[in-house]
Amino acid sequence: MRILAQGSEEFIQKLGELLGAGHPLVWVFTLEEQRALRLIGSSCAFWTYEPLGGTLRYAHQDCGSVSGFEEVLEGFFGHPEASVLVVLGPDRKDLLGWALRVRSAYPELLSKKKSLIVVSDLQHPPRELERFAVPALLPSPGVQELLRLLEDVLSGENAANPLVAVLDEDAKRQACLVLKGLLEHEALLAFRLALSTGKTKAAFLQTLAREKVRVFKRSGALSYVEPDVDLSKVGGLDRFKGWLVKRRPLFFHPPEAAGEFLVPKGVLLMGVAGTGKSLCAKVAAGIFELPLLRLELSALFAQQSDQDSPDTVFLRTIDELENLEPCVLWVDEIEKGFVSGIDAGGSSSSRISASFLTWMQERRSRIFVVATANRIMMLPAEILRRGRFDDVFFLDLPDFAERKEIFRIQLERFGINPSGFDAENLAEAGKGFSGAEIEQVVKQALIEGLAEAREVSEADIYRSIGSFVPLSVTMFEQIKAIKKWAHDRAIPASSSTCF
Ligand SMILES: Nc1ncnc2c1ncn2[C@@H]1O[C@H](COP(=O)(O)OP(=O)(O)O)[C@@H](O)[C@H]1O
Ligand SMILES: [Mg+2]
Repeated sequence: MRILAQGSEEFIQKLGELLGAGHPLVWVFTLEEQRALRLIGSSCAFWTYEPLGGTLRYAHQDCGSVSGFEEVLEGFFGHPEASVLVVLGPDRKDLLGWALRVRSAYPELLSKKKSLIVVSDLQHPPRELERFAVPALLPSPGVQELLRLLEDVLSGENAANPLVAVLDEDAKRQACLVLKGLLEHEALLAFRLALSTGKTKAAFLQTLAREKVRVFKRSGALSYVEPDVDLSKVGGLDRFKGWLVKRRPLFFHPPEAAGEFLVPKGVLLMGVAGTGKSLCAKVAAGIFELPLLRLELSALFAQQSDQDSPDTVFLRTIDELENLEPCVLWVDEIEKGFVSGIDAGGSSSSRISASFLTWMQERRSRIFVVATANRIMMLPAEILRRGRFDDVFFLDLPDFAERKEIFRIQLERFGINPSGFDAENLAEAGKGFSGAEIEQVVKQALIEGLAEAREVSEADIYRSIGSFVPLSVTMFEQIKAIKKWAHDRAIPASSSTCF
């Protein structure tokens, strides 16, 4: 038997049931001793003994100092109404002696229906107590607890802080979701930092996400990426954007009856280089308002050693990632993890794919995966099988209307007012160009203009287009093959794509 609870409310309820049944010994593992005391205190009145200062308290009232555990036990057993004694972090200098003493007191605890709760930063009770103690893990603060903490922090905040007005119920909930998994003091510090640095809701949430990743990130294969793109920065790809917007509510609040089956798990984006696959990964995190973590497959392989296969490194990274849920995981160019025989670790890389696929299939955590692939023919058939990704999208080169939009976005991005340009003509001239190539074209035109200390003109853009040979020309055959391959394996990300 052990206490495993989803949140502190459930923890308290289960603990209450054990104490009600007069269970003699519960071992609570936590790094938050004061929080544990506060929570236990919400369900019953108890004695607390703190060996470090030699103090004894009853229901938070000081009962003076005591000479040691022996005296506390004697008082506890002798007091007819005392039923629960909490011991904070037993003295590690003589843990064995202490454990044996508790074991010898066990029969009396049992017969008198009194309970001893040990609150400790030792994960497991000493071996001598293993068959006697019920182990329990105090869960980190859940959304409700974090909401109370945030309200507390906000009520002490200067009313002049614009965030006080900006943070509506929805934003507060999202903030607490992002911080799930942190300890109370870590969440408190993150809230304070985010309140003092940000001005907007988005900046507030981003600071929280960054703080959470800072606390948990250990592996070199994971990196935090600012999801600084929103839907307005992506031209075209209407179907994919619509798909994301529809999934957002399901990620957080799937309908009760359908439950977890409707929670989005992830997408695979494949297609021509430069069409905005990486951009879409950032947009997904932006729409879901979640931390974005990028998994670097090459770093994963680099960490393998004689002791650690890539498979082990992958599973360790995943473990770390699960601390960070809810989040969006971006696996860029996933085909690199599946190609076997390319380097010395050829056979190992196919083992990564096996554990990746199993994880994708079986995980229950709130991690939305966005995987991208350029060389899609290298992907094994299993990855496309149902149950791994919710959907597989194909990103084609933009059509006329999409190029118009992308030109406008890219001009604005470089601080150029697009109203002075004929969008139709630009889109026509940029036929066969990808989004990334349009970005290059605008950048080059801007540099030309700057070199001559004047504003960019439409002529600069045409010149830039003329000097460019897009991939759609140099790789005509490959792109045709990619499209053919994708035809019956993927949904077009744009409604205008025709195969
Ligand atoms: N659909 C698009 N809308 C706006 N910009 C785009 C689009 N596609 C590509 N770009 C521009 O090209 C850059 C590179 O695209 P990227 O997402 O890396 O392409 P991919 O990952 O498909 O190779 C982006 O950062 C963005 O500036
Ligand atoms: Mg990319």
